[in-house]
Amino acid sequence: AASVVYEAESAAIGNGVVESNHAGFSGTGFVNSANAAGAYVEFTVTGAGDTNLAFRYANGTTIARPATLTVNGSTIETLQFAGTGAWTTWDNETVAAVLAQGANSVRLTATTAAGLPNVDALTEGAEGGGGTGPI
Ligand code: GCU
Ligand code: CA
Repeated sequence: AASVVYEAESAAIGNGVVESNHAGFSGTGFVNSANAAGAYVEFTVTGAGDTNLAFRYANGTTIARPATLTVNGSTIETLQFAGTGAWTTWDNETVAAVLAQGANSVRLTATTAAGLPNVDALTEGAEGGGGTGPI
């Protein structure tokens, strides 16, 4: 199936703001979460069964910004979101997941006091391996 892009600036945001001051984002901006554990971005993703979720992000620090990925409230895993070298350098963290039919809540929640990386978008159906877990 074709991939579908969900922009973070259209997602539900917990403790963060939409900004556009670091170039290279898709759409009209990205989400800058507060530097706080529990900050989140929650996408509503239309179901497609077995699929891949690619989170496009930037982390201009040298320290990973881990976040728990939950789908419909169930924890899938903690993604690391390693440093990308600059706030204007965007990379993808891709994971396999299984979505239900219809609307799915796909949430990243920061696990450390650093908060989330800057989050640009989620691509559902991105290329990657099968199974469950990191690609
Ligand atoms: C800088 C950067 C922000 C980023 C923040 C952070 O302030 O400009 O885009 O979100 O660092 O450390 O989270
Ligand atoms: Ca931030």
